[in-house]
Amino acid sequence: YCATPSERGAVPSAPEQTTSKPELTILFGSQTGNAEGIAEQLAAQANDQGIVAKVVDLADYKPKQIKQEQWLALVTSTHGEGEPPDNTLDFHEYVMGKKAPKLDSLKFSVLALGDSSYEFFCETGKQLDQRFSELGGTAITERVDCDVDYEELAEQWISKLLHTISEQSGSSGPTVSGLSSSAATATESTYNRKNPFKATVLTNQLLNGRGSSKEVRHIEFSLEGSGLHYKPGDALAVCPENPPELVSELIRALGFDPNGRVNLADDEHSLQDALTHYREITLLTPPLLKQWAELADSDELCALVSDTAELRRWSEGRDLLDLIRQWPAQKLTAQQLVDSLRKLPPRLYSISSSQAADEDEVHITVAAVRYSSHGRDRAGVASTWLADRLEEGAEVPVYIDSNKTFALPDNDETPVIMIGPGTGVAPFRAFMQEREERDATGDNWLLFGDRSFRSDFLYQTEWLKWRESGLLSKLDVAFSRDQQEKRYVQHCLVEQGADVWAWLNRGAAIYVCGDADKMAPDVHQTLLSIVSEHGNMTAEQAEDFLRQMNRDKRYQRDVY
Ligand code: 2AM
Repeated sequence: YCATPSERGAVPSAPEQTTSKPELTILFGSQTGNAEGIAEQLAAQANDQGIVAKVVDLADYKPKQIKQEQWLALVTSTHGEGEPPDNTLDFHEYVMGKKAPKLDSLKFSVLALGDSSYEFFCETGKQLDQRFSELGGTAITERVDCDVDYEELAEQWISKLLHTISEQSGSSGPTVSGLSSSAATATESTYNRKNPFKATVLTNQLLNGRGSSKEVRHIEFSLEGSGLHYKPGDALAVCPENPPELVSELIRALGFDPNGRVNLADDEHSLQDALTHYREITLLTPPLLKQWAELADSDELCALVSDTAELRRWSEGRDLLDLIRQWPAQKLTAQQLVDSLRKLPPRLYSISSSQAADEDEVHITVAAVRYSSHGRDRAGVASTWLADRLEEGAEVPVYIDSNKTFALPDNDETPVIMIGPGTGVAPFRAFMQEREERDATGDNWLLFGDRSFRSDFLYQTEWLKWRESGLLSKLDVAFSRDQQEKRYVQHCLVEQGADVWAWLNRGAAIYVCGDADKMAPDVHQTLLSIVSEHGNMTAEQAEDFLRQMNRDKRYQRDVY
């Protein structure tokens, strides 16, 4: 569900203002909520400075409207391999395409969100920024590309943008009305990334049976006293700690004092504390490697940094310890070290419970990531922290990361098809709990896959119980390694193609959660072929059909 622009913080102009005020349209393209949050922050501050601002979800924005805009701010994330977020697809296609209009009177600014550990960092923001210029628009301020720790840069972008608009439009100071800023903040929870809630671990148990090649844990946290709210489909953001052995090994290898003081943005910390809680040490991003080439004064690393593909290959499966061993920086200080590292980002896990079933709890389903590369055992930061070091009673800093592009239909009668192999099954447990509590009458179909029936059928008893009670109308499972030939969820889909098509005709919504790399594209292809076969459509028509389903929020994906 998307609120209309007016509900979202479109700011009424204060009647007592006499000079004409600039009108700023703020568009956001977002898979989760970060871009939207920044858009709202911008609107609130704009209003305080006498600029009339309205925030519009790109899903609700008619692309042709862009011709009419004078002042435009765009905040957009990028996902996957440089693709626009779902709500930005139509806008992106129109603006990038041949039919895009001239934008001679447009004054714009772009804030791009991304993750610098991905190859196509901030790609959607970059493309649209360049395209607006090509079409004749004028960039009011330079585009800013933000990494996962976007807050500071976003705040700077907002101040600079508003300052420039005020200057260029000759608009005068703040309005009398403080309406929008209070409206925008009223809905925000007290707990967020800057101020996470310390949730107590209630249960931490292994879901896999003996002999499994996987290690998936079911973790329950208490939210008692937090006032936090989430809906099925939302994610829990967990602020993790780096592995203590890796932190110690790093400090030892560098010859630093673990208790030496370093300054982070807000405060002074010991080096050990900074590297444990606040800085990323397990991933090598291109910006870090570029800085390191200078710190280590290495021609070899300089050469590597200038070759994107080669740099990517080298960084794969390596961490900070590998970097400092291979290219030691002779005169490095502890402060320089922490300054070169990005903030330790929170990790997001799809929530596997519903507050309708238990208001004071939140559950997640976490696969522990462990592997060996370049001669050393490695561990996923948050997943192994959760798996190995968090016993019942431990406290974990968390907050809710709401996901508006992955939510149950508003109508309880709508049938849902849930495709969730592996830990992708998590949000569907939340869906079922919610629908059970709400006595929702819509049919529910789960397609689950994992390696082995004996050891990897996650939440088996719950699914069977719901199958028994009739809440789960259909259950299909694919265990990939229980027979010679690999069997995956999409094989179940193919076999049941006629049924899938029949469900779609009854208005069913499709949800896909799990692996973004192989599973989601394979499932997408399978859905395309089912639609084209059973709906008698060409490949192109089938593409359009799924695209339209996505616009109608009847084909939603949460893939990672
Ligand atoms: P595999 O590991 O045996 O290849 C959850 O991880 C399940 O998803 C596993 O059974 C895994 O199988 C399977 N899986 C792997 N690749 C997949 C793909 N491309 N499409 C669907 N399922 C896949």
